[in-house]
Amino acid sequence: STPPPSDAADRGIWSSKLGFVLAASGSAIGLGNIVFFASNAYQFGGGAFYLPYFIALFVMGIPVMIAEFSIGTRTGRSFPMALRALVGKRGEFVGWWSLTSALFITMYYVALLGWALCMMVAALGGLMEPGATAPFEPFLEPTAGPNAQVYFFKILATWWPMLAVIAIWAMTLLALWKGTETIEKTVRVAVPLMWLFMIVLIVRGVTLPGGTDGVMYLFTPDLSGISKPDVWKGAFSQMFFSLSLGLGTMTAYASYLPKDSDQVNNSFMVSLLNCGFEYIAGIAIFSMLFAFSLNPAGSSISLSFFVIPQGISAFPFAVKAFGFAFFFLIVMAGVTSAISLVEGMASAIIDKTGAPRATALACVAVPGVVGSLIATLPMIVDPGLGENGTVGLNFLDILDHWAFGYSLLTVGLIETILLGWVFGAANLRAFVNEHAALQLGAWFDVLLKFVIPAILATVIVWNLWIDL
Ligand code: PFF
Repeated sequence: STPPPSDAADRGIWSSKLGFVLAASGSAIGLGNIVFFASNAYQFGGGAFYLPYFIALFVMGIPVMIAEFSIGTRTGRSFPMALRALVGKRGEFVGWWSLTSALFITMYYVALLGWALCMMVAALGGLMEPGATAPFEPFLEPTAGPNAQVYFFKILATWWPMLAVIAIWAMTLLALWKGTETIEKTVRVAVPLMWLFMIVLIVRGVTLPGGTDGVMYLFTPDLSGISKPDVWKGAFSQMFFSLSLGLGTMTAYASYLPKDSDQVNNSFMVSLLNCGFEYIAGIAIFSMLFAFSLNPAGSSISLSFFVIPQGISAFPFAVKAFGFAFFFLIVMAGVTSAISLVEGMASAIIDKTGAPRATALACVAVPGVVGSLIATLPMIVDPGLGENGTVGLNFLDILDHWAFGYSLLTVGLIETILLGWVFGAANLRAFVNEHAALQLGAWFDVLLKFVIPAILATVIVWNLWIDL
């Protein structure tokens, strides 16, 4: 089964390895690294989480990334067509299934970014300044003092997030307009800026009185995590999402690389950059939480949208600037991830049908925008539920539960079985090793064929168990 003809010259190519690494790390670094990681790390007891997480990186993250990258360069095709070329129609089916989850994940990912954009503007308007009266009173009911939680719920109840969602989609599509050329232009600016803003936030965090206690909490090894199965489950699920695996993005990005690219090296670079960013984001957030004795229990949404803003309000100076910096960072990190999600889908449509890029983008953007708008509709979000500290994000919760808890992990499971058994791990490894400085050993086959599918299957069955 050869892939159908598609105009290879038209698919685009990264101008340099740096362009690719920036784009792929921009995809990996996102909301997952800033908010989901911190709330997982807290929930699982700080130092008890990072050892399992580190193991998940080497046992599953890097090997799956090597596989996803190398099938992209080997076939020069995006996810469904690459799988079809290697394992036939079954593979293509899994590819489209994965892109369907990607579409749903993009809808809610962009909805979160829309809220972050609203909060960014509100922060600039002085939302977090101590003693400030609520900014934007013409648009929102006035609140008593700078209470980020109250304010966030008020924002949720307006139409502003819908406007913000449109703005985020517009930025994303603008960056995708000319494929690799415009993606590269965007990530060359956005990715270094993300690192810079994050470093500023860390320096602020650890220099707060008591801030280093948070760092100790995060990094003091606590071996108790090893014996707790749910810590392992959390670590493996978070790793899959954080590295942008199973959603077609990494294969699409790698398909724009020359065939002789060293995918072992690329995978190590991208995943270490990702996890490095995650750990430093953890330092910035935990130092702030500990300095002000804030309790991040609850959802990752509450952590990012009101617990952290509450901490920033207590900064001794430059509250506006730091408030802006935090949400700006989320928006930048998130948009470079959204770009990759949409590119994974659009490139598959182009490979399959030969449609012009604009048409393929429209096929993704139309349902995507509608879904993101529904997710931010005030009556769907129902901030009224917020009274007891939770956000009534019904639609988001449902999406998150199905797309992330089941679909994504199941795709990962089938994908590794197809590549490990049907195409053959040894086959894949031989191709990777042709171009790799660091040679993969037989351990790669063992991981891809046995260990990773077993882990993913266990996590899926476990999620089912909890649900039933
Ligand atoms: N890795 C991104 C994050 O950590 O926020 C999310 C993501 C982007 C997942 C792209 C999957 C993907 F294909």
